[in-house]
Amino acid sequence: MKTIGLFYGSETGNTESVAAMVAAELGNQNVELHNISETDAETLASYDNLVIGTSTWGYGQLQGDWETFFPELDGLDLSGKTVALFGLGDQVNYADVFLDAMGSLYEKFKERGAMIIGHWPTTGYEFSGSTAVVDRDFVGLALDADNQDDLTPHRVTQWVSGISSQFQ
Ligand SMILES: Cc1cc2nc3c(=O)[nH]c(=O)nc-3n(C[C@H](O)[C@H](O)[C@H](O)COP(=O)(O)O)c2cc1C
Repeated sequence: MKTIGLFYGSETGNTESVAAMVAAELGNQNVELHNISETDAETLASYDNLVIGTSTWGYGQLQGDWETFFPELDGLDLSGKTVALFGLGDQVNYADVFLDAMGSLYEKFKERGAMIIGHWPTTGYEFSGSTAVVDRDFVGLALDADNQDDLTPHRVTQWVSGISSQFQ
């Protein structure tokens, strides 16, 4: 398997912690971690295997560093790339826009030609709206550190065991 580039944006550290957990589950030697605030589009495009992590802020908005980076994605041809997404949000206080940033990144990576892997069931969550749900599943791993933090380690383990064999 080729090296996986894991790119994350994190405001208060929750997504950053999960990024480290995902990397450990994938095997740290297989993964290079990048904070999206400290990298560039060329680096992102240099990987054929990508894991993309974001939290949602504002009201259904991208995490700030992803928001800054987002226009860079328009210049990239991501065809042939395998991409898995994970998102953090708060299903209680933002039930209408739960994990919307993961939905925005999903749309953009798909539009740029990437193959998206790692969708995740919506059972076990209570929310009313999310752009991260497509065809009844989340487009990537759904996490809620505010209300279901205890479930995060198991969810990460399960998700990674499903995606790891799909990387190139
Ligand atoms: C001001 C504020 C706005 C937020 N907006 C959303 C939102 O629109 N949708 C959502 O699912 N979660 C929202 N959240 C929850 C965060 O995404 C969540 O706390 C996440 O774990 C933060 O991760 P980070 O520290 O990596 O940025 C918001 C949290 C705050 C404090």
